[in-house]
Amino acid sequence: MTDQNSVKPLRLGLFENAQANDSGTATWRHPDNGRYLFDKLEYWRDTARMVEDAGFDFLFLADAWGWADVAGERPDICSVEGLDLPRLDPAIILAALIPETTRLGLVATGSTLLEPPYSFARRMATLDILSGGRIGWNVVTTGTADTAVQGFGVPMVGHDERYLMADDFMQVVYKLWEQAWEEGALERDKSGRFADPSKVHRIAHDGPYFRSHGYGNTSRSPQGTPVLFQAGASPAGREFGGKHGEAIFVGSGSVEQLRAHSSAIREEAVKNGRAADEVKIMSAFAAIVGSTEEEARRKYAEVADAQNPDVTVASYAWFTGLDLSAYAPHTPMSELSTELSQTQVARFADKTVGDVLGDWHAHGVGARPIVGTPEQVADRMIELADGADLDGFLFAPVIPPASTVDFIEHVLPILKERGAIVEPSSEPQSLRERLIGTPTPALADSHTGSQHRRTMSRV
Ligand SMILES: Cc1cc2nc3c(=O)[nH]c(=O)nc-3n(C[C@H](O)[C@H](O)[C@H](O)COP(=O)(O)O)c2cc1C
Repeated sequence: MTDQNSVKPLRLGLFENAQANDSGTATWRHPDNGRYLFDKLEYWRDTARMVEDAGFDFLFLADAWGWADVAGERPDICSVEGLDLPRLDPAIILAALIPETTRLGLVATGSTLLEPPYSFARRMATLDILSGGRIGWNVVTTGTADTAVQGFGVPMVGHDERYLMADDFMQVVYKLWEQAWEEGALERDKSGRFADPSKVHRIAHDGPYFRSHGYGNTSRSPQGTPVLFQAGASPAGREFGGKHGEAIFVGSGSVEQLRAHSSAIREEAVKNGRAADEVKIMSAFAAIVGSTEEEARRKYAEVADAQNPDVTVASYAWFTGLDLSAYAPHTPMSELSTELSQTQVARFADKTVGDVLGDWHAHGVGARPIVGTPEQVADRMIELADGADLDGFLFAPVIPPASTVDFIEHVLPILKERGAIVEPSSEPQSLRERLIGTPTPALADSHTGSQHRRTMSRV
């Protein structure tokens, strides 16, 4: 039963990136930007502690490989503006944050195109074990520049086939996380045995893309499978997300666009035998907050004006492989196609190349910021969540960390006052219990990955 005045409780994550800029924009020169020091541990420690204390559910680290490749070279603008490279490895940053936090979920991005599943499964399990079950994995198929695969020396795979490959990858890691070591296998009894051999099993996988045979390299972690995040937006991506995703990121947009997206994902979940609300849908969300609307607009104009058109061309090329500077400005975007990020072409279907250069220049790939007073931002969040059936937001700071500080100081208290944010449990909780609401840290029984779980051990 819902009370007329009740507000949907929102989950909150912080979007971060272990690089100077987010992909697609350059804001590192802004006086309030602290992320230009992304390679200092202090930046991550301060950010993680700040959002944990504020009650965020998790810190998310995006990740990607490759660089913008226009006319066969990495354009100088990328070095001048710190675009795409250099980066740090998100999983290692998360490891460093485990002792700095106690309740915060820690979510790393990992690519099914480029990571070997056997070693990737061990890395995630290690993080989950050391953090006591606070780890999530954002499953990406790496749909950006071809340069991502050049460094690895492997061929690029077509868009939809990357999702087939990802599905095969999932089968390997589910076997390793759910099947190889049963819960309670470790006895550590100095007068007896370290592990119970009847609870340690060989796995066997011979799939179309991956093979793996033998014993898992790590014992079962508190959650087994880390909480699975996904953000595929294409039909193949939504299908994959509805099957495997537990939390799904969607981009920003109008109530109608977000509602269409969230209901498409929930339908996919239902097709996979899951309840529609079992999948938590979180929209990327950015805000520029001012004490008045005018102040907020002025702050936003400062950010948009500081963008460089060359950054736009290089960023768009990184996402899509398309060099927009080579097309006449009146060219309809519907004439362009890519095997890389189709979303970044489809979202401009009714626009021209010139429009995109203008739009991208101002807003980049990320969420279009809500610009206004704290009350206006809070109102919009509640309106979007209720209207589009969202479960929460992934707050993406336009200027990290200043925009996060503004949000925490000015918007969050209003959301809390309106009952839209639930205080975390005082008991230690796994990320899955906290974010997805499962009764235990394990994958829900209705989730496809749990089919690999052993329910009975040999005695
Ligand atoms: C909030 C959000 C975060 C994302 N983070 C990443 C990321 O860290 N790395 C990445 O390669 N792709 C990331 N993506 C892109 C998606 O994984 C996906 O490739 C994109 O939405 C296009 O979907 P499609 O591949 O189904 O066309 C993100 C998307 C969203 C909306």
